[in-house]
Amino acid sequence: MKSIVAVDKKWGIGKNNDLLFSLPEDMKFFREKTAGKTVCMGYNTLLSFPGSKPLKNRVNIVLAPEGVERDDCIVVHTLEELSKELSKYNSDDVFVIGGAMFYKTMVPYCDEFYITKVDADGEATVFYPNLDEMGFEVTFVSEPIETNGYTIRFTTYKNPNPLKF
Ligand SMILES: NC(=O)c1ccc[n+]([C@@H]2O[C@H](COP(=O)([O-])OP(=O)(O)OC[C@H]3O[C@@H](n4cnc5c(N)ncnc54)[C@H](OP(=O)(O)O)[C@@H]3O)[C@@H](O)[C@H]2O)c1
Repeated sequence: MKSIVAVDKKWGIGKNNDLLFSLPEDMKFFREKTAGKTVCMGYNTLLSFPGSKPLKNRVNIVLAPEGVERDDCIVVHTLEELSKELSKYNSDDVFVIGGAMFYKTMVPYCDEFYITKVDADGEATVFYPNLDEMGFEVTFVSEPIETNGYTIRFTTYKNPNPLKF
């Protein structure tokens, strides 16, 4: 299982149930990495998408509170249900895509992380776990890329001891 996210200098990822920055190059990267794959997310992240609609060309699985049902994506209500659902897919093709609550729970189970680092402070109110403090290994850092006035770097981390989900 993999995780993908854009973080600011402080590992911030969002505020007001929205992203911190508009980053066309990162959106492109996200689309390319996750196209045709399975994405799983917390309910607030689904609500943060345009029209609160799931992402096209991907299997969308959402962990949502009891009572929430949707006919346009797969909804699960517990981590047990999520685990059962995810067992149907090749774990290399499953991406944890947010948000903060869901990342916090799922990071220990992921083995690879696509972390886009934005060289700015977005004054976030919600954060990604700090992978440097967790002892995960940086395996790739791209050259800096300019997009919409921001400097970003694509980085990859590996978790040497992922838990089994
Ligand atoms: N920068 C990025 O790449 C990126 C990517 C995705 C999202 N975001 C940002 O992240 C923010 C949303 O994050 P968030 O933390 O508010 O919401 P979230 O994790 O997307 O969703 C929270 C919801 O999902 C359920 N949930 C999530 N984890 C759960 C768990 N471990 N166990 C049970 N239920 C769980 C919760 O249910 P209950 O209500 O029952 O607890 C809650 O309703 C937004 O600002 C969004 O833009 C940023």
